[in-house]
Amino acid sequence: MSNNNSVITNPVNQNPVFLFKSALLLTKHSNNQMGPLKDSIKNLREEYDKDKLTEDNLPGNPVELFEKWLNLAFSKGVPEPIALNLATVNSQGRPSSRVVLLRGFDENGFIFYTNYKSSKGNDLAINPYAAMCFYWYDLNKQVRIEGPVSKVTDEVSDEYFNSRPRESQLGAWVSNQSEVIKSRQEFEVKLAALNSRYAESVPRPSHWGGYILKPDKMEFWQGRASRLHDRIQYIFHNNSWEISRLAP
Ligand SMILES: Cc1cc2nc3c(=O)[nH]c(=O)nc-3n(C[C@H](O)[C@H](O)[C@H](O)COP(=O)(O)O)c2cc1C
Repeated sequence: MSNNNSVITNPVNQNPVFLFKSALLLTKHSNNQMGPLKDSIKNLREEYDKDKLTEDNLPGNPVELFEKWLNLAFSKGVPEPIALNLATVNSQGRPSSRVVLLRGFDENGFIFYTNYKSSKGNDLAINPYAAMCFYWYDLNKQVRIEGPVSKVTDEVSDEYFNSRPRESQLGAWVSNQSEVIKSRQEFEVKLAALNSRYAESVPRPSHWGGYILKPDKMEFWQGRASRLHDRIQYIFHNNSWEISRLAP
């Protein structure tokens, strides 16, 4: 038995709600604010008052504002500010979301890398639209980005893949991401075999690469006191960005 409580040893008999509760108890809120968890979370209140977002000096292009906010997130030490929630929708119209890492962005779009045969890859093959959401708690800021998604070129994926550590490169081969596997051990045996097979260098698997989301809608949310938050939305319309304020 492992004594590391973040390792799942026997998830099969676990009710996922208990597992979620254990994870939540590991967060900082558990230290002093939590009584019985189910009862106390409804009483948690944060006041947001770190900044404001006004119409003065808004850039015409939202990607510029995103860059400014991301820079701020890095400079203020927000943990892993490139982590974002990515939502996709399957052929039945059923949404699902998961965290991925932003690996590049500019006027053309926002790039992340993944397995093209994963659940999200299957969703995007059928319905090539996605929504991204960043939440930078320490800044009381949220950014939402929506638009069509396409694969990046092989050259772009190759360049990124070649920059990854060898372990991550092998991971892209070993994991049939989102498929059910019998055990972790099966996975480790496969990894050892791949390690010998690609002793020299690891080529990029054709099922692994980048996607780029081209934004046609972006929203910047700044938490304010008393829930009177600022929300500025950019919509790409008639070849230019239209800016409006949304009710909180
Ligand atoms: C902080 C963090 C970063 C992650 N980054 C990525 C990533 O960049 N690409 C990726 O495919 N999965 C990433 N994952 C794992 C995904 O959340 C998810 O488990 C995986 O992509 C399978 O999702 P799917 O079955 O919906 O396709 C990350 C998870 C976390 C918590």
